[in-house]
Amino acid sequence: MNVADSELVSAMLLDAGYAETKNINNADAIFVNTCAIREHAEDKVHSRLGYYHKIKNEKPSTIIGVLGCMAQNLKENILESKPYVDIVLGPDSYRKLPEMLYHRSNKNNNHIVDTKLSRYEVYDNLFPSRNEGVNAWVSIMRGCDKFCTFCIVPFTRGRERSRSIQGIIEEVMLAVNNGFSEITLLGQNVNSYNFEGQKFHKLLESVASLDGVKRIRYTSPHPKDMTVNVLDVMKNYDNICNYVHLPLQAGNNNVLKRMNRTYTKEEFLNLSELIRNKLPKVGISTDIIVGFPGENQPEFEETLKVMNEVKFDSAFTFKYSSRPGTKAAEFKDHITEDEKQSRLEKVINLQREHTVIRNKKYIGNTEKVLIEKESKRSSKQWAGRTDSNKWVIFDKKSERIGDIVPVKIKSAFGITLQGEIKKIQEMETVI
Ligand code: 5AD
Ligand code: SF4
Repeated sequence: MNVADSELVSAMLLDAGYAETKNINNADAIFVNTCAIREHAEDKVHSRLGYYHKIKNEKPSTIIGVLGCMAQNLKENILESKPYVDIVLGPDSYRKLPEMLYHRSNKNNNHIVDTKLSRYEVYDNLFPSRNEGVNAWVSIMRGCDKFCTFCIVPFTRGRERSRSIQGIIEEVMLAVNNGFSEITLLGQNVNSYNFEGQKFHKLLESVASLDGVKRIRYTSPHPKDMTVNVLDVMKNYDNICNYVHLPLQAGNNNVLKRMNRTYTKEEFLNLSELIRNKLPKVGISTDIIVGFPGENQPEFEETLKVMNEVKFDSAFTFKYSSRPGTKAAEFKDHITEDEKQSRLEKVINLQREHTVIRNKKYIGNTEKVLIEKESKRSSKQWAGRTDSNKWVIFDKKSERIGDIVPVKIKSAFGITLQGEIKKIQEMETVI
């Protein structure tokens, strides 16, 4: 989401006549687009701002701006410890940036703080200035109304609102015409998309039916909003990736309740079974938080049990991080750092086993792989992803980045697969 937002901000600044520099010491203005989801993310921004401060000491006219969720979260307080920051802008205020930059560079000495959240801002009709690559992020909705008790997002991103299907289609078509092979539909709560009664499955189908859209992903969905309609559309369209991110967070019903996740362990298990039945070759990933306030040992072990039942293909795993202003921050019985660390290691180790089990099943298959970049290990190899979201490394022949090629999987070590390109004719039998 932050990459997508940065691309929006870039587009606005380029439009207003500014140019990008690759050398930070030459910059007249430096913006950092921030995340507030965990303390660690905020810590990184604090240290990065320290570095920008040094640059500003050398060249005092440099304008420094803090954008995004941390700006929204901390507001004017950022200026208390960092008076050298010129501009603080929340995620709904980016449109004001060129004007603010103009004022601030014209010797207006007041710091500028704008963190007003909007019920309507979706940045429609603003085409992002995309980074190079194969994937175009297309933001389809913003904000979140779920209020999970651990999460700061509903406070920093505000209320849910969706873009028009028409606006999204225009942006997707532009991305396709600009050569992007993959479209990722983005939202804090992507499957609660609702534009004038048109739900997510409708949008997904409209995008999948467009000419030239080779691949579609979406992230991040909420299990509660996952519908059979969405799964049916995924099944019916070959260009929608066979991949679902299904954030579990915790495997115990009491913890899920205290998290306000609005589903039970049983509902989650049923849903993952339904997904695997409907989409037999699907890749499922998840998010897991360990050490939520009050989570005792048996409750934690239920998370491991659910992991054992679902056997996710991959998982993003986090130690609970207390976010001031959220409900859970006020809960009693916070778990010690050592305990959280030890639980995290258990979850990571178990997931590693499951990833290996899932990946080994690919050996012998021929997969459609989208070539994304050169492999880090060798300039003679490509790295690309299957539509179930697994990285595959294979020798180059005469393909280009952005091509989708048939690759026969030969081995599975660690989290990546290794394969060999097949001829297109052999692929036809696979499709
Ligand atoms: N502490 C740890 N992890 C968190 N997440 C969100 N808030 C917190 C928090 N306070 C995780 C959730 C979410 C992912 C994007 O970040 O797992 O799904
Ligand atoms: Fe945060 Fe996701 Fe819950 Fe919304 S649904 S509050 S973004 S964890």
